[in-house]
Amino acid sequence: MNSTLIIFLLYLLLIATPPCSLIASAASNWTLLHSNIGITAMHMQLLPNDRVVIYDRTDFGASNLSLANGECRIDSHDYVLKRDCTAHSIEYDVASNSFRPLMVQTDIWCSSGALMPDGSLLQTGGFNDGDHVVRVFKSCDTCDWVEITSALVKRRWYATNHILPGGRQIVIGGRRQYNYEFYPKLSKSEKAYSLPFLVQTNDPKLENNLYPFVFLTPDGKLFIFANNRAILFDYARNKVLKAYPEIPGGDPRNYPSTGSAVLLPMRIVQGKVAVVEVLVCGGAPKGAFVNAENGRFDKALKTCGRIQVSDPNPQWVMETMPLARVMGDMLLLPNSDVLIINGGSAGTAGWEYGRDPVLYPVIYKPDNPFEDRFEAQVPTTIPRMYHSTALLIRDGRVLVGGSNPHIYYNFTDVLYPTELRLEAFLPPYLDPRCVRSRPKITPDSQTEFGYGNRVVIRFRVVDELDPDSVMVTMVAPAFNTHSFSMNQRLLILEGGNTTKAIGKTKYQVIVTAPPSSNIAPGRHYLLFVVHRQVPSEGVWVKIG
Ligand SMILES: *[C@@H]1O[C@H](CO)[C@@H](O)[C@H](O)[C@H]1NC(C)=O
Ligand SMILES: *[C@@H]1O[C@H](CO)[C@@H](O)[C@H](O)[C@H]1NC(C)=O
Ligand SMILES: *[C@@H]1O[C@H](CO)[C@@H](O)[C@H](O)[C@H]1NC(C)=O
Ligand SMILES: *[C@@H]1O[C@H](CO)[C@@H](O)[C@H](O)[C@H]1NC(C)=O
Repeated sequence: MNSTLIIFLLYLLLIATPPCSLIASAASNWTLLHSNIGITAMHMQLLPNDRVVIYDRTDFGASNLSLANGECRIDSHDYVLKRDCTAHSIEYDVASNSFRPLMVQTDIWCSSGALMPDGSLLQTGGFNDGDHVVRVFKSCDTCDWVEITSALVKRRWYATNHILPGGRQIVIGGRRQYNYEFYPKLSKSEKAYSLPFLVQTNDPKLENNLYPFVFLTPDGKLFIFANNRAILFDYARNKVLKAYPEIPGGDPRNYPSTGSAVLLPMRIVQGKVAVVEVLVCGGAPKGAFVNAENGRFDKALKTCGRIQVSDPNPQWVMETMPLARVMGDMLLLPNSDVLIINGGSAGTAGWEYGRDPVLYPVIYKPDNPFEDRFEAQVPTTIPRMYHSTALLIRDGRVLVGGSNPHIYYNFTDVLYPTELRLEAFLPPYLDPRCVRSRPKITPDSQTEFGYGNRVVIRFRVVDELDPDSVMVTMVAPAFNTHSFSMNQRLLILEGGNTTKAIGKTKYQVIVTAPPSSNIAPGRHYLLFVVHRQVPSEGVWVKIG
């Protein structure tokens, strides 16, 4: 065969290669980023400089990471160490894959938080001496946590936060707290407001309504799911607007029967989001916690419920996952797929009560036909049980860390040792064979915009463009702990179909920024151009 013929055959092969999204074998993958980050990743938040704040808790002994410069924390209230020279928080830098210890002064265990409009993490509550404390972390090379004592009206332990239009956070519930409050406060006298729904959904022994699933809807209300049902809530007037039916089967989905939930991707059409849907997946059956206390580990729930929040007569539609899962994390991927990752297939959340790790992530494609939505992914080898986390980062990978089902750092002689390894999960769109389909946003794109603005985004794609497949998405960076990603939302912007060539491999798409702060509370977002279901690296944008 002469060389011209070979080149011609190679050319034929090349043009015959189906685009990435059609390669049935496009595979997910895993990489180990660190074999030891010194602490267990129990809570994680991505910041707009591509650093991740990670923390576990005080009150449980020495971690495996010393504080900087020989510093020690002196805390007469600490249950285990009054003088602790180890860190319980780190700042991880994605670009350099390095981390440095941070110092918390009080216990941040099982707390909550959100990224604020100025790009800082505002965290609320915790345990013991930390349960009324608010902490702020604003990133810089030497910055550390700043703590505001007695900042909260009520103890907040296992609460859920949501960022609100206007830039404050609402802090909802927590152990034996059937109320909510706001932070920052408008005045010193601003109090907490009662929320009877949290009494109604509180199972006296089991609770099963901690870390409720909370989502801000496009009309500025809150969808709050606790235990096995949900309400639509007007937080400004302290009024329940709608009660949704109980999820079929009636099994609980919140801590300790921990399932997970997402607000499905919201498509903006003519300045509105017509369809608003929530998906709740997994959990543990009623009574599973008591059974686990007695050494019986119930099989986890295999079902998801999907409901249209905006429907005048909303009904749950049930779906079945390929694998049962408790303590899973649900993440919105930039191409609008939903990732279900981490957790176990038996038992419940809580100390020593999870069993049979589910090593296989599953991707759920919300727009696929009903029977064809779930796809199992390549498994990890590391169990991620109670107190594990997962977080989307800018390049489209998912950070996976944590797992600590013990009261202390227990590295040996336990079923699932305290886990210090940090991994990344690479969804199938990061398969090297997808690289030619992958858009690259160019620096001449807009990154700051007001509500409803016309926004020009430019990008390159090596392969021939399929303009019909282009989509521009905005993802809100979430605060992840206990299988729930607070503040997580994904918007599909209007105008993805306006893509036109402006150079040999360069394109321009003109989209409309989200129309209101109810749809996109003012703060930083990651913006992605998606082509043939393959997202670009994100760019940080700011709205409002
Ligand atoms: C997964 O990543 C490893 C390197 O981390 C690489 O050797 C391997 O080929 C990858 N697998 C796939 C299917 O891309
Ligand atoms: C971390 O663990 C390693 C291995 O067990 C040990 O050698 C090291 O001293 C530990 N560091 C701290 C700060 O605990
Ligand atoms: C974990 O370690 C602590 C001491 O560091 C020990 O007291 C405790 O019994 C251990 N927990 C388990 C479940 O083995
Ligand atoms: C893009 O889609 C919108 C809404 O579906 C439609 O009104 C508009 O005409 C389309 N624009 C182009 C350039 O196709």
